[in-house]
Amino acid sequence: MKGIILAGGTGSRLWPMTISVSKQLLPVYDKPLIYYPLSTLMLAGVKDILIITAPEDEKKFRTLLGDGSQLGISISYTIQVKPEGIAQAFLLGEEFIGNESVALILGDNLFHGAGLTGLLQEGLGQFGARIFLHEVSNPGDYGVLNVDRDGNPTSIEEKPTNPISNLAVTGLYFFDYHVSDYAKLIKPGKRGELEITDLLQIYLEKKSLLSSRLPRGTTWLDTGTPASLHDASSYVRIIEERTDQKIACVEEISARNGWIQPEKLFDIASKYGKSKYGNYLTRVAKEIEDLAE
Ligand code: DAU
Repeated sequence: MKGIILAGGTGSRLWPMTISVSKQLLPVYDKPLIYYPLSTLMLAGVKDILIITAPEDEKKFRTLLGDGSQLGISISYTIQVKPEGIAQAFLLGEEFIGNESVALILGDNLFHGAGLTGLLQEGLGQFGARIFLHEVSNPGDYGVLNVDRDGNPTSIEEKPTNPISNLAVTGLYFFDYHVSDYAKLIKPGKRGELEITDLLQIYLEKKSLLSSRLPRGTTWLDTGTPASLHDASSYVRIIEERTDQKIACVEEISARNGWIQPEKLFDIASKYGKSKYGNYLTRVAKEIEDLAE
């Protein structure tokens, strides 16, 4: 399975913070926001990743993540000239996707919690599409899945004024290789964008939309407003300090997946000098070496 991180957009709800910096490069506590969706794809086992950025930001993402080889993965880049909708990712990524299935994650979504990795891996390589749902207190801010009395999906609505359910569609989606063809069928919606909900509706009508509820205890945050960005930083800081482990440390995930060797981790750690992040990588590299002995 391939992976796409959609990291374009204007981040206008975060202005002036995002006038000269992409939202997905802003810090969430101790690392750039994009590390979080990247880590989710890596935990699902995805190694071939396309990052879609706004034209002015591509260079900065390349400086941060390069071609992915330092993480034992492949990262390529494509530009989205204007933010014309989430579903546009499948038009821009058509060649990259080829005949494979693909996971799309929004660059501002953060997932964390026990059991998540297993759940993601179960959904890989399937036929149709899969969405991941989370109960929320403010469904009107999201795409919402409506279900019938037996729990079968009936429709998906983007930011409904009067939501019938509290099941928000999170920013992580798995699709089969038909996705780019189906994306060509949809037209811009009320916001003038190619809506992801319209694409999901096609799969729903073809009876090939599957959904998984994220287990209780799974955290899902998006970081589109100053308050939610601040909350995400606080969340990461509290968990990291309490557990003495990092969330979304992409180098650690790579090493624990066996995609890079501990020597590589020592190498990266030395480049990070005296930062706490660098110290953490050294500790993880030693742990992995000890386990191998
Ligand atoms: O967070 C989950 C929600 O994300 C879903 O429940 C909604 O169905 C989905 O439409 C989306 O809603 P938002 O209003 O939060 O999407 P937003 O426009 O903020 O874009 C989400 C991310 O995708 C953000 O990091 C910017 C990026 N993006 C968005 C668009 C529309 C792009 O890179 N290009 C785009 O054209």
